[in-house]
Amino acid sequence: MSLSPQDAQKKAAAEAALDFLQPGSVVGVGTGSTVNFFIDALAQRKHQFEGAVSSSQASTERLQAHGIEVFDLNNVAELPVYVDGADEINEHLQMVKGGGGALTREKIIAAVADKFVCVVDESKWVGRLGTFPVPVEVIPMARSYVARQIVKLGGDPEWRQGVVTDNGNWILDVHHFDILNAAELERQLNQITGVVTNGLFANRNADVAIVATANGTETRK
Ligand code: 5RP
Repeated sequence: MSLSPQDAQKKAAAEAALDFLQPGSVVGVGTGSTVNFFIDALAQRKHQFEGAVSSSQASTERLQAHGIEVFDLNNVAELPVYVDGADEINEHLQMVKGGGGALTREKIIAAVADKFVCVVDESKWVGRLGTFPVPVEVIPMARSYVARQIVKLGGDPEWRQGVVTDNGNWILDVHHFDILNAAELERQLNQITGVVTNGLFANRNADVAIVATANGTETRK
């Protein structure tokens, strides 16, 4: 089956991330269609690493289907590398993530990892973050309160209907943020009571971006 040009780029970026694997270690695995290509590629390299920690139930199931052991993050002392996609990434390697709803576990694993390798097709590379709505995971009973506070910050929240996160929470997708200072907005959103976390990855940005274009992959730092 032939891939669309965008899927071919996702696959190329994901496969290039194999170069960052640390022999004998546990690898952090994100969530999404780009990461799915990474998981499939990992299956061919099983002998090179010990296993994975996973940011979602979906990735866990895919890893296990390939016979890759998935560890509880609490039992992993060192995580040299975390590989994940993004919905948007800028030149500072700050990202909007969470289109797949896995932002909280992704942010936790990113915090633990020594190196965050972001794998994207070129459509994700942006001059300014915020065209893609910023996901915010909320405790269900706080949804309306959090939405009102987000409006005060200049955003336009929309409840992601029918979605319950792996943590049992809900998601607000926030449109129309004018993001001049992503790190500050990330902090402001996290200070709202009832917010679990938000999809701005600005304070813990990526360390390396592998960007696939029509002409091949580029590593940007
Ligand atoms: C999931 C994510 C994904 O990394 C992001 O949505 C990109 O997904 P895809 O690779 O399918 O474009 O943050 O929560």
